[in-house]
Parts: sequence; structure tokens; C-alpha cells
Amino acid sequence: MNSKELFLIEGLAGEKKLKGRVSINGAKNAALKAMAAAVLFKEPVKLENIPDTDDIHTLTEILKKMGATVTWTDSEQGKYSKMTIDTSDISSTDIDKKMGAAMRASVVLTGPLLARFGNVTLPSPGGCVIGARPIDQFIEGYEKMGAKTIFKDGVYEMKSVGDLKGGDILFSKVTVGGTETLMMVAVLAHGKTYLSNCAMEPEIVNVAEWLNACGAKIKGAGTPTMEIEGRGGELLEAKTPFVTIPDRIEAGSFLILGALCCEELIIENCRPDHLKATIDLLKGSGVNLEVRPPDSGMSDLQIRVFNDPKKNTVFKTFNICTREYPYFPTDLQSPIVTFLTQAEGECSVDETIFEGRFKYVDDLIKMGADIKVMNSREIEVKGPTLLKELKDGGELCAHDIRAGFAVVLAALVGKGKFKVNNVHLIDRGYEKLEERLRGLGARIERVRR
Ligand code: UD1
Repeated sequence: MNSKELFLIEGLAGEKKLKGRVSINGAKNAALKAMAAAVLFKEPVKLENIPDTDDIHTLTEILKKMGATVTWTDSEQGKYSKMTIDTSDISSTDIDKKMGAAMRASVVLTGPLLARFGNVTLPSPGGCVIGARPIDQFIEGYEKMGAKTIFKDGVYEMKSVGDLKGGDILFSKVTVGGTETLMMVAVLAHGKTYLSNCAMEPEIVNVAEWLNACGAKIKGAGTPTMEIEGRGGELLEAKTPFVTIPDRIEAGSFLILGALCCEELIIENCRPDHLKATIDLLKGSGVNLEVRPPDSGMSDLQIRVFNDPKKNTVFKTFNICTREYPYFPTDLQSPIVTFLTQAEGECSVDETIFEGRFKYVDDLIKMGADIKVMNSREIEVKGPTLLKELKDGGELCAHDIRAGFAVVLAALVGKGKFKVNNVHLIDRGYEKLEERLRGLGARIERVRR
């Protein structure tokens, strides 16, 4: 991680001339949870298709600091994607203050640690700066299963009073991390747990299916209600490796890039069924895309997105309302706003999941986008506009992982030369983004300030 790095980008001025293929990596939001779930196992677990991104490295260091052994086991052409995690020597259940506070996913680790060791401490969780990110749903769930939490000097201390027991938990707010974490606690608890109003994201199903293959009894993952029969403290057996599903947010980001910047882009290794809301909106807007079978030797599908270089296709605008899966994801809200600055007409964008996820909009406005900020959860976008270089060497800012992608995309679409700072935040979620974009013909460089 290097906070002094910048991207230098030369815009295409609206020309759709990039071309090539990108391969989608494993979903960071599934891989992180599987890494946390390794604590539930009595023996080393193997994880595959792990993205080589900074959040994965941070969680690796957090686990190591507690005494776990984490080893990358392959390096095909310098690319790592397989790891083994052995949690049998964990000697501390204190999640490192600095690293734990840097990433939201550290809160997920509290569940498996609490379930196995009966206590855990967690610094106030961080992650992308996208509004308040409370953990009340975790704390209430733990309480129902027999663990108390106190908050002292910026640290949560969670402790079970006796054995953790199954509980009947209704999430008052749909939460991805909360659903996954309580599911993991329930796997080791005594008795049955019922979870209601659960999140239904594919990453949850990915982890649940793996845990089931290793001895857990989880029913209903991917639906609003789940039933988990606890193992009464007996750890899981590593019967099969965890294979991470393709990252739907990365695929969606490249899909939008393909529509705005590419003559032809083939997105390999993806799951279009996980991206239905996004694909439907883009198709309705006039984007040419088709789902294709995988190349031989590959298992996941491809999406081809293409533009006729001789025609200046104008996309139609549409309204967006971010919601939980299977609806349009909050993590694609910022890239789709860049798209909407290039589509014809007026639309509104409602962010219903996180407050404070519109910080990047100021930069788009400085580039010439016609966007009105109505309040912290709603904007109105009018397009199309030609996005232009900032005056006096001004820099675009990657405020979070996805907003970072959105401003890179805006720079690629725009006219002139652009600098994007805070690149380390983009690195948290997109592996070697500039190399992959260069592979398509983009002019983008990483430099040190
Ligand atoms: C996960 C993803 C993130 C994605 C988000 C929503 C990871 C590492 N991150 O985040 O990329 O944007 O899902 O799809 O998987 N909330 C509470 N109390 C809680 C927990 C959550 O009020 O105890 C609120 C949050 O502030 C937010 C909403 O619930 O407004 C949804 O959050 P949640 O689904 O928990 O997001 P994460 O799991 O943190």
C-alpha cells in the first residue's frame, strides 16, 4: 500500500476504441469471509481463486498476528491465487488495532473467534469511508447467543457467558456482514439458530456451500430465512477447498467500462446470473452485450460488450435505486453515475444502503458533469456531457474502492490529461487495474508523487 501513488491517465475524449479481454478475479467479499471462516476448522484449509488485492493482504496480516499461518501456495506467472490457512496455533483473539480499524471485514472475524475461543476484541471497524457503519446487528445477535459486548477506549470486547447457544435472530436491517457472521457463529454453537431478514448475496451462498461440504448444517443461504444446526463446539473438517466465485462487482465495473470506452471487450470468467439487474439496465439503455459460453478449459461464462466505432451510439438514461441483492448493488453506484453522465436525458440516483457515498460527485462536476446533489442519498444527473481535464493541474480523488474506479473511468472517457490520487484505495479491491487497462490500449500509468 502506498498512499503517495497516482494514476496518470490520458482521456479518450469519448472515443470507444479500447479493445481486448479481461479476466475477472475471485470475489474479494467472498474470499475475505472464507478467510475468516478458516477459524472454524480444526485443520488447515485451502482457498482458491483468491484475488491478490490489498484487503486480502491486510486480513492475512491480521490472522498471522493472532498466530495463524497463512501461505500463498502458487505463483503461476507471478500471479498468486491459492492459499492455505492454518488456525490451529492462534494464541491471541485481539484483532490488531491499526489493521483491524483499516478494514470493515475485520468485524466478520469476531464471529468465528467468539464461536471458537469465547472472547475477542475488535477496534472500531473501518473500511471504505461510506457513511456510518454501525455493528449493532452483530452485537445484538451475539447477545441472543450468549455473548456480551462492552465498548472501552475505542475497542469492542466480546465475551461469551458459558457456551454459545443457538438463537432466534431477526435482523432489523438487512446486512451482508451480519448475516455471514451470525451464520458462522451458529455453525459452532449449541442447538439450532434461526436467522430472518437475511441478506441474499451470492458471496454468502458461496461460503455457506463450502461450510456445508465441510460438515456444517446451514439451510436457506441465499434466501431471507436461514436455519443452522450447531455442532456444539466441534470444529469443521477441511474436506474440500473453498473456490471463490467470480467478482460480480469487478465484472460489472468492466461492463460499464466496455460500454463507454471499448470497441469490443470480452469479460472472461464471470457469472452474468449474479449481475442481472445491471445487465438489464445497460441493455435497456442501448448497450450491446451478449453472454457467451466459456473458452475451452474454463468453467465460467463470458460477456462480450461492443460498440460500432463508426456510429456514435447515444445511450438512454435511466433512474437508479441501490438495494440489496438481487437488485442494483450499491458497489456499482459510482461507476454507473459515470455512465449516466454520458447517457442522454435526466435521471435520479437514490443511494439507499450507505449515506455519504456521493463524495466523488464533486470531481465529476469539476470535470463538467451536470449533476445536482439533492441530499446525502440522492443526486440528479443530466447527460450527455463531455468531461474535461481539471484546471491548474487539479487531481481527481479515489474516495473509496468503487468511487476510485468511477473517477478512473471518468478520466478515460474525458478529454485531456488527468491525475487520480489515493490509488491505494483502488488497490484494496481491483487487482493491478492499470495493467489490465493498458492491456486494452488505455493510456494509464502509476507514478509516485
Ligand atoms: C458488504 C460489502 C460492501 C457492500 C455492502 C452492501 C464486504 C467486505 N463488504 O459490506 O462492499 O457495499 O456489503 O452490499 O463484504 N448496518 C447496520 N448495523 C450493522 C450492520 C450494518 O446498521 O450492524 C447497516 C450499514 O450501515 C448499511 C447497511 O446496514 O447501511 C448494509 O450494510 P452491510 O450489508 O452490513 O454491509 P457490509 O457487510 O459492511
